[in-house]
Amino acid sequence: MSYIRIKDVKKSFKNKKGSTTEVLKGIDLEIEQGDIYGIIGYSGAGKSTLIRCINGLEKADSGSITIEESDITTLNEKQLMSLRLKIGMIFQHFNLLRSKNVYDNIALPLKYQKYSADRIDKRVNELLETVGLTDKKRSYPSQLSGGQKQRVAIARALAVKPSILLCDEATSALDPQTTESILDLLSKLNKELNLTIILITHQMNVIQRICNKVAVIDDGRIVEQGNTFDIFSKSEKEITRAFLNSIFKGPSRDDLKNYPDHENGRLLHLIFTGEKANDSLITSIAKSFDTDINILFGSIEYVENKPIGSLYVTIKGDPKAVEESIKKLKEQSVRIEYPGGDTN
Ligand SMILES: Nc1ncnc2c1ncn2[C@@H]1O[C@H](COP(=O)(O)OP(=O)(O)OP(=O)(O)O)[C@@H](O)[C@H]1O
Ligand SMILES: [Mg+2]
Repeated sequence: MSYIRIKDVKKSFKNKKGSTTEVLKGIDLEIEQGDIYGIIGYSGAGKSTLIRCINGLEKADSGSITIEESDITTLNEKQLMSLRLKIGMIFQHFNLLRSKNVYDNIALPLKYQKYSADRIDKRVNELLETVGLTDKKRSYPSQLSGGQKQRVAIARALAVKPSILLCDEATSALDPQTTESILDLLSKLNKELNLTIILITHQMNVIQRICNKVAVIDDGRIVEQGNTFDIFSKSEKEITRAFLNSIFKGPSRDDLKNYPDHENGRLLHLIFTGEKANDSLITSIAKSFDTDINILFGSIEYVENKPIGSLYVTIKGDPKAVEESIKKLKEQSVRIEYPGGDTN
């Protein structure tokens, strides 16, 4: 039984004119304890609505959401309140109280739960250490950088020791370096506390850096889901490939026109996984079919610590030999895309 199981969840909103729009059109997801589960999709796909259904801030119209055996769609308000203690949440714009300093922001949920002053003090200091902000405890949000504000928000979200952390675009307002440091912190918390993390984003590099699983959501539906490495190396879905283009950057179409061989050769984008991420396969195929394979652009990306190689090549020669070479590449479990179109 999965830790969090979402089954056929639907949600519509009424607009002012009284007509309804279905925002979630039957979502199925299974999340295991300890997962860092990424959900990626374009703006308006329904990501925030889904995450709000998971913590009960929105009520699903139908379907079920089971967290640790209890179906939250059937809970009353009081039961929901106690379930929410298991779920922390952080946001893109941090949502800190401006009039309170770091210490008091973090103490807020503890006060709300009526912890004693001693326990609050002990826990807040512990949390400050965890997120690396001990020296900022008397600072106000306006005196902090974006990354520091998000650290305060993380500490506050973890104050009452939830087992699940929901992150809604938590790094979208941060620069790349700060994003990395926040993602590293989330990864550390996941390992040290066995914290289950659901992370919503529209950035594939966020998924690449810390998620072990990923689901792609489009227009209220999950288009595909699986292990991050499998999705990165094997996905055939157009929307997923579009997100992956930000990772496997290649030459632009205009750039490609400047390569001398482009006119004569067939352009291929090869994606290699694991052991095969090297050039020797290319050399041996070119040799055995007497084709001319020219590497235009190559890179290697690491996903879950495993390499995925990306090569843009042109291939020239007798048309039959070209076909045979492509067939051989496919047999060697190389994914092939045709950036210039299939009849390039
Ligand atoms: N409370 C609401 N009332 C009416 N419509 C809503 C409500 N909340 C969300 N929507 C609509 O539902 C759709 C999905 O919104 P949602 O916020 O879930 O998207 P998202 O994937 O999080 O987008 P973004 O990446 O921009 O945050 C949008 O068209 C939005 O206008
Ligand atoms: Mg959103």
